[in-house]
Amino acid sequence: MKKTVAIFIMSAVLFAGSTTAFASTTTDQLIAQLQQQIASLTAQVAALLEAQKSVAITQASINTTLGLLGEMSEGMTGEQVKLLQTALAGDASIYPEGKVTGYYGKLTREAVKRFQKKHGLRIDGKFDRKTAEAFEKIFEIAKKEREKNERESNKGNALPCVSAVVSGSTSSTLEDRDDDDEEDDDSDDRDNEKRYERGSKNDYRLSLPCREVGNSTTSLTMSTVTVSSVSSTSEMLAWTTNRPADAKVFYATTSPVSTTSALVWSDGTRITSHRALLSGLFANTTYYFVAESTDANNAKITTVEGSFVATGTLPQVPSTPTFTLAQVATHNTAASCYSVVSGTVYDLTSYVAAHPGGSIILAICGKDGTSSFSAQHGGQANPANALVSLKIGTFVQ
Ligand code: HEM
Repeated sequence: MKKTVAIFIMSAVLFAGSTTAFASTTTDQLIAQLQQQIASLTAQVAALLEAQKSVAITQASINTTLGLLGEMSEGMTGEQVKLLQTALAGDASIYPEGKVTGYYGKLTREAVKRFQKKHGLRIDGKFDRKTAEAFEKIFEIAKKEREKNERESNKGNALPCVSAVVSGSTSSTLEDRDDDDEEDDDSDDRDNEKRYERGSKNDYRLSLPCREVGNSTTSLTMSTVTVSSVSSTSEMLAWTTNRPADAKVFYATTSPVSTTSALVWSDGTRITSHRALLSGLFANTTYYFVAESTDANNAKITTVEGSFVATGTLPQVPSTPTFTLAQVATHNTAASCYSVVSGTVYDLTSYVAAHPGGSIILAICGKDGTSSFSAQHGGQANPANALVSLKIGTFVQ
């Protein structure tokens, strides 16, 4: 009997021990899993914050380049389209999707339409000259407003003078650079940290103090200078002055920039909004620059030296989106009607109600409508023309 009890007690102890061990392993695993999830979520939040910051920076610099935007319409791709999309994305009521893809597709067309509607322009979704002009005017106003706010919030502070968004630069390009400014020769790391605020992976915002030199009876002030990459061989520098003044940019591939031997961009017209398009640059090369403005009283304001890299790494233009038949098939109603005609995918949704031949067009929603279309409209110019602006991508098997 004693023996039986002893065996019972021993096995109970052993069993209890193994249960505890099992339970704690499971809990440990759970904790490890949760910790992993927390780490991954934290990383995602950090990435999102970074992305948000870079959009804000891009948006701040974009206003200065909008004047360059040419006419655009659906189907176009490229850097200009990106600028347009970034600017549109600044207003969620106009471009709620806010996608910056570089492809002028349906979403961009609809956003441009909303913009045109809001500003009493002809609503056709094309970024034509009239729309571009209205666009620039509006962003000019927004920019002035922002600058006013910036000035007010900076009152009494030591104003940063150069604020450059340098795309595609590496941190070493900025951080290794020697700053020769006598007003600010304290080049310790803490100071660098303050000045080089990280944007996205490839964008850095650089803020440097400026100094006024020359015959300055009343103070001539200069806004931040934004630097934005226009192409791999050209950069746009832009700034404003509080009074009409001329504009000069000295730039060179060696530092310090010597005003006697550097390349010079200049505009003698005395205005307050300055844009210097530096072109013919070497791609992927670091350029150092000093920007300055002089007013009618010969008061001169000049930035300390800044730098940028003429990037050969312009954002990749995405290729035209592709659709499979399975993807097209999910848009098979009047509420969302995609169709394939001769290898191209069209979004016919906005056209269904306008189709002169009536609702029969619904028969090709979600399908390859090539044969129906050519049987009905083969060789006709109007139907073919109507399709042009409805293109959203190419068909893949
Ligand atoms: C895929 C997109 C289509 C587009 C963009 C389109 C466009 C047009 C246009 C512009 C017209 C007026 C023709 C003119 O006045 O010159 C028209 C008329 C018409 N369409 Fe379509 N169509 C499409 C598909 C279809 C399909 C799939 C059918 C039938 C299977 C169809 C049947 C008709 C008919 C019956 C008329 C009226 C008769 C006529 O004026 O020729 N359409 N369509």
